[in-house]
Amino acid sequence: MDNVVEEIKTRLDIAEIVQEYVRLTRAGTNFKGLCPFHTEKTPSFMVSSDKQIYHCFGCGEGGDVFSFVMKMEGIEFPEALRILAERAGVKIPPRNPKMASQKTKFLDINRVAAAFFNKVLLESSKAQVARDYLKRRQVSDETLDRFQLGYSVEDWDALNNFLMKRGYSVAEIFAAGLTIKKDRGDGYFDRFRGRLMFPLADAHGQIVGFSGRILKAEEKAAKYVNSPQTLIYNKSAVLYALHLAKKVIQKEKLAVVVEGQMDVLASHQAGVENVVASGGTALTQEQVRLIKRYCQVAAFAFDMDVAGAEAARRGLEIAWQNELETRVVQLPFGKDPDECIKKDPAAWPKAIAEARPFMDYYFDKIFKDHDPANVQGKKTAANLFLPLVRRLPNPIEQTHYLQKLAAKINVEERYLRDLMAAVKLTSTTTLEASLPKTADLKDRTQRLAEMVVGIGLCRPEHLEFIIKDVQPEHLKIKEISELYKNLVIYYTENNRFDLKDFYSALAKKDSRQVELSKQLCLLVETEYSELEKDDPAMIKKALIEAIPFLKRQYLYSELKRLEDELRIAEESGNKESIRTLSEHITRLTEELGQLNQ
Ligand code: UTP
Ligand code: MN
Repeated sequence: MDNVVEEIKTRLDIAEIVQEYVRLTRAGTNFKGLCPFHTEKTPSFMVSSDKQIYHCFGCGEGGDVFSFVMKMEGIEFPEALRILAERAGVKIPPRNPKMASQKTKFLDINRVAAAFFNKVLLESSKAQVARDYLKRRQVSDETLDRFQLGYSVEDWDALNNFLMKRGYSVAEIFAAGLTIKKDRGDGYFDRFRGRLMFPLADAHGQIVGFSGRILKAEEKAAKYVNSPQTLIYNKSAVLYALHLAKKVIQKEKLAVVVEGQMDVLASHQAGVENVVASGGTALTQEQVRLIKRYCQVAAFAFDMDVAGAEAARRGLEIAWQNELETRVVQLPFGKDPDECIKKDPAAWPKAIAEARPFMDYYFDKIFKDHDPANVQGKKTAANLFLPLVRRLPNPIEQTHYLQKLAAKINVEERYLRDLMAAVKLTSTTTLEASLPKTADLKDRTQRLAEMVVGIGLCRPEHLEFIIKDVQPEHLKIKEISELYKNLVIYYTENNRFDLKDFYSALAKKDSRQVELSKQLCLLVETEYSELEKDDPAMIKKALIEAIPFLKRQYLYSELKRLEDELRIAEESGNKESIRTLSEHITRLTEELGQLNQ
């Protein structure tokens, strides 16, 4: 194994790998950049190609290309080895499958499944319908190959049987998301049947899940069936085709984000390769961070329908919060990039080149719906536009757009400035958006936990809703979790809630919890009482957003813990623990899947 590691190190240039995550500039024979492991304004992160190491003089982090990838990706050595071996074109001696970590095993299963689907598509007589479909959609053989497309036949257990023959257990195949448990009786059946298969890969090209498109327009069945949330697949952290697009994205300094997989296929086939798909939903924070590894600007080309527009607007907001510059591509014709390209391939790169800053696009969009000549139109337009202007980080930009609005509605800039100072950050400020953008996940989890319990305390009309859904263990901060437990006990015992009475009950148990309760109430009052005046449903909306987030975080960390335990159990060969742990993992994975539906 040592040989393999050394071989990889000599074949790869650490600077090139690091550059995929950090922008580096030359400093003599070395490179330097802003450290990805701590926050800094002046670069103290050095990379040496000669020595094949990195070191940060700010925080002391350092190591070789393996430790770098492990830290950046939050993965274990075997996975880092696999990623880098592939990059270096080095073959790794096969591992003992019993020892492979659960994650690595899932990646294996997916890779084998993708190859199976691909072979079926190319060779099986049952896949004629899929080959015909691709022809009709003008997907070339090269594209099929490049995206490793596949086909899942109509049978109930084709994949399951194949994988079992390859030595995977029924439980593993299920936990990897490839089968579904039968409602009645024992057994499992294939999740994907009669569908065109798109393997979904992470930034390194490792297959983490699948999306399967139906071939016939049936009303009952969903157009796409996707892998459920698993240990390796997190829908909101995947950008379709990123591994194929990332180099070009870096070169072009632009990522084009479309909605659908078919749009990506059409675009790459037409030679525009800096294109990824969001998977049909608004861009998430994780996806934005992924893009920011490769460039600073994203151009959105979402479908020209209501859903597309809404997804674009929400995604743009998130992009913005993360300081990713955003542009909007307007298609000259066609409802999506695929249609546009089919009609005229040259129109697509042209539309991308002409993409406009989101603010300009939004400005025009507002005045399509609101007349700048009448009073009501002016007021509404200003109300829509000013919150966005206010959030622009740069005063020159702010002034630019204030002047633009002033000229359009014929109101002096200084009045607009006053008005802007008075607006709430946005009329749709949700809990997520109102959080500081630098807050890391831990702060955010704590903050949301505080909010949820705080709302329970000072808005008891929501208590029922909270208790129904939130378990104390979902609130990972001990004090808050304890307080919440007491709150639930009090409410269940008394069947009603009175804050004063609760305080006196609490004071007998633990007076510090009274203090904490008061702080939480204050937090909710400062955060929400103003916002509630605009939108009485604000608090409910915040809860609907916060609770799944907390549950998800809880499930993720539980799964990680169990996975570690499983690895230990596997190493010591403890069959009984392996079984119970695997079952537990499967159960939580399913729960996570349901949460993400
Ligand atoms: P589209 O309906 O635009 O699909 O959904 P498409 O890929 O462009 O396919 P065609 O051109 O209509 O054949 C956009 C994306 O939303 C996700 C998929 O990732 C899809 O590519 N989606 C859509 C789902 O996950 N489930 C669905 O039921 C529909
Ligand atoms: Mn589409």
